[in-house]
Amino acid sequence: MRILSGIKPTGTIHIGNYLGMIQPMVESQERGELLCFIANMHSLTSVTSGSRMKQYTTEALLDLLALGIDPDRSTFWVQSDVPEVAELAWYLSNVTPMGLLERCHAYKDAIAKNLPPNAGLFTYPVLMAADILLFQSNVVPVGKDQKQHIEVTRDLAIKFNALYNEEVFTIPEPQIIEELAIVPGTDGQKMSKSYNNTLEVFGEEKKLRKKVMSIVTDPTPVEDPKDPDTSTLYALYRLFASDKQTAEMADRFRAGGLGYGTVKKELFELLWSHFAVCRTKREQLAANPDYLDEIRKKGAAKAHAIAMATMDRVRKLVGVI
Ligand code: ADP
Ligand code: TRP
Repeated sequence: MRILSGIKPTGTIHIGNYLGMIQPMVESQERGELLCFIANMHSLTSVTSGSRMKQYTTEALLDLLALGIDPDRSTFWVQSDVPEVAELAWYLSNVTPMGLLERCHAYKDAIAKNLPPNAGLFTYPVLMAADILLFQSNVVPVGKDQKQHIEVTRDLAIKFNALYNEEVFTIPEPQIIEELAIVPGTDGQKMSKSYNNTLEVFGEEKKLRKKVMSIVTDPTPVEDPKDPDTSTLYALYRLFASDKQTAEMADRFRAGGLGYGTVKKELFELLWSHFAVCRTKREQLAANPDYLDEIRKKGAAKAHAIAMATMDRVRKLVGVI
């Protein structure tokens, strides 16, 4: 079973991204063949500086490798390193009804958020279909917001196969990642870059400590008992603590005499030590750009070989060869 995942490079990742998306992806390496790429071409809808794009792409490579994507076991590459994806997107766009794209919520949402309504934004789902179909993916784990794009992908694959009378594309299945545990941000809302309430996985020590210390709490005095179940601080703590530590913390909340400042310090220590090994790995990789480049090139070659098996057939079918 081939599992394909694309992640847009966004500069820095927060613990919501990690727990909601990256950790499940790293774990999926145990279950099947993982194909994972950094969707830099998709980021062009919002990142319009070349130097920032380069930097974000490198950060994403470092983040994912440090957090456990294994380039030997999985196929891990940067989208633009296999440019055939853009070629396939063009072929697919010729079987894409306008109405199908006009119905996409993500496009309408982006317009509502004042992103410029250009053709790149409009045809985003076609490029995403090309990502998926080029690699003959069976399963695509995505958040709810991306489900419609997988439906578009399925429609296009079925249409293309029917038009050219050959089962050239595997029809992919979406696997909806339920945000079972929505990670709260420092203000108690869902953690999100757009709310400015994030805790970064690889944040600088002082800054991260400051952010942890800014987590909102209620004004219950130190000596009073506190309810762990309504506390953002406790909710964040339990995401990284052992069962024993979690149970003990709940008891300490209920017993009274526990100040939120103490809990914040403990949460910081927990977070800092949780990612210690990954942080070291990331620093080592960052200090060795030649090695990183080698991993990137090898990943691209591996992905390219899979892509070409599809492209050879597609080019013959559309008659450009
Ligand atoms: P942001 O809201 O910060 O812009 P993205 O939308 O780029 O984050 O998130 C990328 C992925 O990370 C999402 O598909 C989702 O699975 C996961 N994710 C983001 N925020 C959270 C959160 N607070 N809790 C759980 N998962 C999250
Ligand atoms: N559009 C996805 C997102 O915003 C990222 C993405 C691009 C993707 N291509 C993909 C996800 C292919 C899965 C499969 O999160």
